[in-house]
Amino acid sequence: MQNPPSQLKIIRPDDWHLHLRDGPAMASVLADTAGRFGRAIVMPNLKPPVTTVLQAEAYRQRILAVLPSGMRFEPLMTLYLTEAMPASEIDAASASEFVHAVKFYPAGATTNSAAGVSNLKNCSATLERMEKLGLPLLVHGEVTDQSVDIFDREAVFIDTVLIPLRRDFPGLKLVLEHITTRQGIDFVASQDAAVGGTLTAHHLLLNRNALFAGGVRPHNFCLPVLKRESHRKHLLAAATSGNPKFFLGTDSAPHAKSTKEAACGCAGCYTAHAGIELYAQAFDSVGAIEKLEGFASFYGADFYGLPRNTDQITLERATWQIPATAHYLPDDPLVPFMAGELITWRLLNR
Ligand code: NCD
Ligand code: ZN
Repeated sequence: MQNPPSQLKIIRPDDWHLHLRDGPAMASVLADTAGRFGRAIVMPNLKPPVTTVLQAEAYRQRILAVLPSGMRFEPLMTLYLTEAMPASEIDAASASEFVHAVKFYPAGATTNSAAGVSNLKNCSATLERMEKLGLPLLVHGEVTDQSVDIFDREAVFIDTVLIPLRRDFPGLKLVLEHITTRQGIDFVASQDAAVGGTLTAHHLLLNRNALFAGGVRPHNFCLPVLKRESHRKHLLAAATSGNPKFFLGTDSAPHAKSTKEAACGCAGCYTAHAGIELYAQAFDSVGAIEKLEGFASFYGADFYGLPRNTDQITLERATWQIPATAHYLPDDPLVPFMAGELITWRLLNR
C-alpha cells in the first residue's frame, strides 16, 4: 500500500456558508476564516437581519474594516428572505457586485430566524425574479412543525417544501445548506445542475452520540442537529465522491460560552479555527484526502459562477491540540469545536 501523503497543497478553499456576527464578536473571529479561505458566503441572520442591499453593503464594509492588515478575504454577501421582501430588492441585489444569494430561514427554525418565512407562497414574486436573474436561494432545510420529530425535520422538509419548490420554480438555483441526512444527499444528487448542497465538517466527523457523550455536550449542538451514524457515513461518502454538487460550507456559528453552557443553550458550532483542517481529518478518515481540493476549492465557485482561486495553501499531517477557549467578547470567550482534543492536520502557510 502507498504511504499516505504527509503534505497536501491545494488551491485556496472558500467557505460557502459562514456566520461572522457583527461588532466585537466579528472582529474576534474573522481572522480564523480569512487565514484559510479566500471568500465566504456570509449569512445574514444578524439582529435585525440583513434584508436589503443597502444593509448588505454596510455589513460588508464593517467586515472589511476589521480585516487584519495583510489579509486578503472577500465577503460574499447574502440577503435574508422575508415575506415582505419586494421583488425589486432582487433586481438591486443582482445588479450589485457583492450580493450573491438570498437565504431562506423557515420562521423559528434556528438562531435569529424569527423574521424568516412562514409560508413560501407569500414569496412567489421574489422567487420568480430570482429564478429569472439566476440568484441562488440558500435553504435552511428543516420544517418547524413541533409535531415533527427533530431528527426527521430535514426529510419532511424535502417532501413538503423542496419538491414543490422545484416544481414551481424549476430554473431557480438552490443550495440545500448543511445537509445532515441520507435523504438530503439523495435529493441533491437526483436533481439537475441548478441544485447543490453544502456539508459541514462537524456533520462529517460526528454522529448524534456526540451530543450525549458522558453527559450533555452543548458545544456539539447545532441545527440541523447531528444525526445517526448511518447518515454521517452517507454524508462523508457524498463529500468524498467527487460529485461537484456537494461543496464546503462550514456553518461556523460562534456563540459566547455563557450562552452555550446554559439551561437553554444556543445552536451552533464554532469551527472556523480549524476550518479546513477538520475537513482534511474527515476526508483522511476514509482515505480520500485527494478529493479535498475539488470539494473545498473548486465546486462551490463553479456553482456560483465565480472564478476559482489561484493561490495555494499547504496542509501538513501533524498533530496539535485545539485550545480550550478563544477570545470572543470582552468578558465571555467562545469554546471552539473539539476544544482540548487532538487534530491530525495543520495549516502551514496562510
Ligand atoms: C446558526 C447560528 O447560530 O446562526 N446555528 C446553527 O446551529 N447552525 C444558524 C443556522 O445556520 O442554523
Ligand atoms: Zn448557518
